Amino acid sequence: MSIKRKYIISLNEIKKIIKINALAEIKCKKILDYLRKNYKHYNWIGIYLLKNKNKLKLFTYSGDKETQHKIIPINKGLCGLAVRKKEIINVPDVTLNSNYLECFPETKSELIVPIFKNNELIGEIDIDSYKLNAFNKNDEWFINKIGEIIVKIVIKK
Ligand code: SME
Repeated sequence: MSIKRKYIISLNEIKKIIKINALAEIKCKKILDYLRKNYKHYNWIGIYLLKNKNKLKLFTYSGDKETQHKIIPINKGLCGLAVRKKEIINVPDVTLNSNYLECFPETKSELIVPIFKNNELIGEIDIDSYKLNAFNKNDEWFINKIGEIIVKIVIKK
């Protein structure tokens, strides 16, 4: 199956998940579980939401392990960098990036995609991969689409 076709199927599945009658946190967790199950290079996926414009707070995640970084000030980490730059951060080798804040020793690459509501950054999707150079422009496009879907359920204003 082509990657485009796989993405279309996944986006349709995710649109079904957001229609179920459940709390936003539960819906998001189901979406993250779905992604991790179907995209093997996504080893840990979390949604962080921006609080008081100065820190990120973990909303929910899918992964084998818990992160100790449940709160990240925006002056720290790759996650903070994505907020400051308001852009996608795609790091092929985390050992070569001085901003990197380690969560799991297995992580080799990381993708962070900001989530916007009316041009305002409200959070981000963070993916750790145990593979080097795991993410390409297709992943960036796809995760950005997921952000556009989930913003509707995490922020209601
Ligand atoms: N590595 C991130 C911290 C979050 S964990 O990967 C879950 C960073 O550098 O900001």
